[in-house]
Amino acid sequence: MKTDSQQGTGTLDEKIIVKTKHGELTLEQLAEVQPGLARLMKEIGDRFHVLYHAAKSGNWRLAEHEQKVTISILKVGATLRPKYHQDITAFIQSHLNHLGESIKAKDWKQFERAYMNAVDETNKLHEKYGYGFIRYTLSEEPPSYYDLSAKD
Ligand code: HEM
Repeated sequence: MKTDSQQGTGTLDEKIIVKTKHGELTLEQLAEVQPGLARLMKEIGDRFHVLYHAAKSGNWRLAEHEQKVTISILKVGATLRPKYHQDITAFIQSHLNHLGESIKAKDWKQFERAYMNAVDETNKLHEKYGYGFIRYTLSEEPPSYYDLSAKD
C-alpha cells in the first residue's frame, strides 16, 4: 500500500493506493464497490427462506446456520450503510435473537411465531425506508437444492 505522500506528492487530499494483480485502486474506489443493501438483501432473502424450511423439516442445524449467517450479513449492511445501523441492530436483537432461541429449543410453535413476527417487522422496515413495494413473502415450496431432512 502506498500513499501519495510516500510517492513524494503529499497533498491534503492524499489517497491511499492499493495494488492488486490487475492494477492500482484507491481505498475510496474499493469502499464504493462494496455491496449495498440491494445486493446483500438478495442473499438475506434467500437464506431466510431456507431457514424456515429447514426448521419445518427438522434440520435445526441448518436453520441455526442460516440464522447466524443472516445476522452476520445484516451486520455488514449496518456497517456499510450507517443510516440503517440502528434499525438493523434493533431488528437483530428483538427478532433474530429470539428466533435463534426457538431454534436452540427446537420448538416449532415458538419458531413459527418468531419467524412470522420477523417477516412483519421486515416489511414495516421496507415501508419505512420507501421500499413498501418490496414485500417479503414466504415461498410455499422448499428449496430443492438442500437436503432439509433432520440431521440429529
Ligand atoms: C431477515 C430480514 C429481511 C429480509 C428477509 C429482507 C429481504 C429483502 C429483499 C428480498 C429485498 C429485495 C432485494 C432486491 O431484489 O433488490 C430487500 C430490500 C431492502 N431491504 Fe430488506 N430484508 C430484511 C431485513 C431488512 C432490514 C432489517 C432492513 C433495514 C433496517 C431492510 C431494508 C431494506 C432496504 C432499504 C431494501 C432496498 C435496498 C435497495 O434496493 O437499495 N431489510 N430486503
